[in-house]
Amino acid sequence: MHITMIGSGYVGLVSGVCFADFGHDVTCVDSNVDKIALLNDGKIPIFEPGLSDLLASNRNAGRLNFTTDVAAAVAAADVVFIAVGTPSRRGDGHADLSYIYAAARDIARAIKGFTVVVTKSTVPVGTGDEVERIIREENPEADFAVVSNPEFLREGAAIADFKRPDRIVIGTEEPRAVDVMKEVYRPLYLNAPPLFFCDRRTSELIKYAGNAFLAMKITFINEIADLCERVGADVQKVSKGIGLDKRIGDKFLHAGPGYGGSCFPKDTLALVKTAQDVGSPVRLIETTVAVNDDRKQSMARKVITACGGSVNGKKIAVLGLTFKPNTDDMRDAPSLAIIPVLQENGAIVHAYDPEGMEAAGTMLSDVVFGRDAYHVAEGAAALVLVTEWDAFRALDFRRLETIMEQPLLIDLRNVYPVEEVARHGFAYHGIGRSPGGR
Ligand SMILES: NC(=O)c1ccc[n+]([C@@H]2O[C@H](COP(=O)([O-])OP(=O)(O)OC[C@H]3O[C@@H](n4cnc5c(N)ncnc54)[C@H](O)[C@@H]3O)[C@@H](O)[C@H]2O)c1
Repeated sequence: MHITMIGSGYVGLVSGVCFADFGHDVTCVDSNVDKIALLNDGKIPIFEPGLSDLLASNRNAGRLNFTTDVAAAVAAADVVFIAVGTPSRRGDGHADLSYIYAAARDIARAIKGFTVVVTKSTVPVGTGDEVERIIREENPEADFAVVSNPEFLREGAAIADFKRPDRIVIGTEEPRAVDVMKEVYRPLYLNAPPLFFCDRRTSELIKYAGNAFLAMKITFINEIADLCERVGADVQKVSKGIGLDKRIGDKFLHAGPGYGGSCFPKDTLALVKTAQDVGSPVRLIETTVAVNDDRKQSMARKVITACGGSVNGKKIAVLGLTFKPNTDDMRDAPSLAIIPVLQENGAIVHAYDPEGMEAAGTMLSDVVFGRDAYHVAEGAAALVLVTEWDAFRALDFRRLETIMEQPLLIDLRNVYPVEEVARHGFAYHGIGRSPGGR
């Protein structure tokens, strides 16, 4: 089976490499010439654990190619996946589908023989219908089917998620496409059958409903965390206590600085817009979006309060910039909302992130990037843990105490037990624990 991926970003590249690892012949296409040159050089343009080795072994086995020549790649394919970006459209929050439609036009012009065109990108309900219309309009002779197959992988654990998914959702009612999609995923469902077939519109909505639900769950526990701080309860124990209930489950109940990343912010917003357009507003999600936006601002205020009400002229050391650990992705990271507010209030921000500093340098101004946690902590009035990279999970507080201006940790991920930090004389401010470290 020959598979072509259009778009070789976080999703397209991981999916392409994993499909090649299943034994399929895969061509990854991207319109970004530099990205393809890098990949053809054996390098990867993103940080994703395990991807580099898997890419090399499948390239060496001759099952994986990279090109900017979309026409040749589509003509040779049995299945073409569209994995281009669907960012928020500037100004209104709807998903920007211009990359999807451009890819559809490219596919239409090059298609040869029966071809299954699959939207793997996250796209609003009805996008598959429009992709089908575009291809038919551009090339009335084309023999094709358009399928929805949303992706659920998480950056940082993308390979494991792709290879051992909870489920694979496939939206199509065309029998030939069903057969092809079964063949694409056959190496997976020989072990366990996680294929879930439904119609295309339902499949498109499953992706948004799933992300919105998870975003809502995070936002719920974040609000409960605020309540915990007021009433002297511990949100981590509340999470554990409610998570033991199987109807609730223990995942996505970790209180923090608000959700960010390349998916939840834009997808919740796009769902809100779709629902408003058809006169069926999703008020829970509208509120989730608003509460989460406020939260990122309130995290900066939390830091200022912990610093005695002012950060003016103070050095603040920020640990972690990416929206979560094990990725270099900075899209909608909480750090992008927190740091500018600290700077507006006169803070001098020094920051360290194991993988995100290059991207952060293009998105933040006047931040001094350091070599490691201790480098940025020198002379700092506060250490603010924003992203829970492993490198920040076993900090040497004895050393930090000697190099910081004052021993103060604001732990926005609740990485540390309060007692451990307090033992080293640090003032501690976590999330959903009483101020001062109860
Ligand atoms: N990143 C994630 O964790 C994740 C998870 C699940 C779903 N998704 C969804 O997958 C889609 C892709 O996300 P991503 O994070 O991989 O985006 P990305 O920005 O990392 O990658 C998109 C790639 O598509 C390329 N591209 C754009 N138009 C093109 C065209 N016409 N032809 C060829 N290449 C083109 C871009 O150059 C870029 O390299 C989005 O809809 C996103 O919502 C992302």
